[in-house]
Amino acid sequence: MGHEHLLPLLLGIVNCFGIFLVDAESPYRFFDWEITYGTISPLGTPQRGILLNGQFPGPPIDAETNDNIIVNIYNKLDEPLLMTWHGIQQRKMSWQDGVLGTNCPIPPNSNWTYKMQLKDQIGTFSYYPSTLMHRAAGGYGALNVHRRPVISVPYPEPDDEFTMLIGDWFNTDYKRLQENLDAGNKMPFPDGLIINGDPSGTTIVGEAGKTYMIRVSNVGIMTSINIRIQEHSMKLVEVEGSHVLQETYDSLDIHPGQSLAFLVTFNGTAKDYYFIASSRFTRKTLNATAVLHYAGSKTPVSGPLPDGPTYHIHWSMKQARTIRLNLTANAARPNPQGSFHYGSINITRTLMLANSVGTIDGKVRYGVNSISHVNPETPLKLADYYNIPDVFDLITIQDSPPGSPLAYGTSVVGITLHDFVEIIFQNNETTLQSYHLDGDSFFVVGYGAFQWTPAMRRKYNLVDGTSRSTIQVYPNSWTAVLASLDNKGMWNLRSTIWHRRYLGQEVYLRVWNSEKSLLTENDIPPNALKCGKAADL
Ligand SMILES: *[C@@H]1O[C@H](CO)[C@@H](O)[C@H](O)[C@H]1NC(C)=O
Ligand SMILES: *[C@@H]1O[C@H](CO)[C@@H](O)[C@H](O)[C@H]1NC(C)=O
Ligand SMILES: *[C@@H]1O[C@H](CO)[C@@H](O)[C@H](O)[C@H]1NC(C)=O
Ligand SMILES: *[C@@H]1O[C@H](CO)[C@@H](O)[C@H](O)[C@H]1NC(C)=O
Ligand SMILES: *[C@@H]1O[C@H](CO)[C@@H](O)[C@H](O)[C@H]1NC(C)=O
Ligand SMILES: *[C@@H]1O[C@H](CO)[C@@H](O)[C@H](O)[C@H]1NC(C)=O
Repeated sequence: MGHEHLLPLLLGIVNCFGIFLVDAESPYRFFDWEITYGTISPLGTPQRGILLNGQFPGPPIDAETNDNIIVNIYNKLDEPLLMTWHGIQQRKMSWQDGVLGTNCPIPPNSNWTYKMQLKDQIGTFSYYPSTLMHRAAGGYGALNVHRRPVISVPYPEPDDEFTMLIGDWFNTDYKRLQENLDAGNKMPFPDGLIINGDPSGTTIVGEAGKTYMIRVSNVGIMTSINIRIQEHSMKLVEVEGSHVLQETYDSLDIHPGQSLAFLVTFNGTAKDYYFIASSRFTRKTLNATAVLHYAGSKTPVSGPLPDGPTYHIHWSMKQARTIRLNLTANAARPNPQGSFHYGSINITRTLMLANSVGTIDGKVRYGVNSISHVNPETPLKLADYYNIPDVFDLITIQDSPPGSPLAYGTSVVGITLHDFVEIIFQNNETTLQSYHLDGDSFFVVGYGAFQWTPAMRRKYNLVDGTSRSTIQVYPNSWTAVLASLDNKGMWNLRSTIWHRRYLGQEVYLRVWNSEKSLLTENDIPPNALKCGKAADL
């Protein structure tokens, strides 16, 4: 397509681009993306979609650990836009995170260049617009970080790999969805599920006897899904950047915002098989299918779709507990993951974050610990950098649910750099929640029904809980995670149930210390957009 050029690194070239050199040995990958509206018909109904260089889903980013990624985004929509890089940790660079707390949005008819490094990362991630309800119109794509040749992975090199971006879809225009939510109405039920933009159009072609890696991201708005393949099992190898114990599954749950990678061996008789994704915890089961095609097969898919779980919440929680870190596998860094004994680190801070639903001025709104987050005109990160008063404080949101009615506010939690934090997500509602943290991963130590109490700590997995960045919280249940917050910056912790996030279910973690040093955080990028109270600085 000519939009990606992988340039061998030449210092001279890089310097004249004005790029902050993070790692002179790592290659640069350049992308130019024009974001436009265009007509798409994922479920057969023509509607407005958000396209990247004319494509939906957007072009994949395939990169290697430590690569520098330069993406110049031209916003041709009629609304301000930001793109975020889900699961990319942006070490020392929350300036590049692409959320309203860190960046001024890119105004219509202008462009902004993200400059980031995939520092020490490996695995399956995604990108999407973080602004408004843009994501309900597309704009998303895959972000796959492959190993550098010097790093080994704990499974045989697959013969090929495929990416599946799976999510729910609405035939309603995204601006209508937005207006409905603004007016206080509930989110409608999705119209269907799609895989790579289509409910049944994807084909995975492979040869008998070979093994393939399938990378899956749930890019949907609100629906958990279960995936499975007719007469084939899936060997889970990676979850959001961690190599997990390789267990074999007949079906796997994957919640909004989550990513994973599994291996499938084409060891059946040579014909075509269904790959199916179906909705979880929904009254009506939505399905999307793809085809596993054995090269040379002339036998089309047939037979009933393999059955999967529908409600079965306990089943899902049990499966979630089987997803554990492989302590002897290499991570992206050439040191064993197991060298990080998170279970023996003392907790320095506990946050209990409860999702809140309520009405404010008669309109349904969502929040965390009774605060429905409102983004100030001035991004929090800019306010922090320029010491602009009256943009945020560290007391609006409390460390545990106060039990007060939902109210608007700007939620920033003050965290000291290198705090070892326990976060308990308490869900008193009857719907599943899913949360994502930017900037760092966390260790998942426990899931349980009903109310969390300190006694639950005795049941934590303090040995091989998976390190990931997006986690589900089952209905009327809790999930506990431990995080070493050692990436200085302003980090978004958000619901990945997108209408909830749009209506306030998010907070920011300000991971901070008073020492100003390029060793702990990069300086403001020279091209930083200025807006709000920072407009003239
Ligand atoms: C916009 O794109 C041009 C190249 O087309 C680039 O030189 C410029 O730095 C970009 N603007 C920003 C703010 O990144
Ligand atoms: C864990 O990783 C090691 C080292 O790469 C690998 O040999 C082993 O098969 C993996 N174990 C499991 C259960 O995935
Ligand atoms: C195919 O391979 C999987 C492991 O990838 C194994 O669990 C399954 O039993 C194999 N099926 C056959 C028919 O050999
Ligand atoms: C989805 O597939 C299941 C079988 O797995 C079936 O019971 C259900 O009716 C299908 N849903 C729709 C909307 O067709
Ligand atoms: C953790 O806390 C305990 C009790 O306060 C203390 O004895 C121990 O030294 C601490 N461990 C570390 C690694 O700081
Ligand atoms: C959740 O429900 C329990 C039991 O009804 C109650 O004690 C607790 O305060 C509730 N928590 C929140 C955050 O609403």
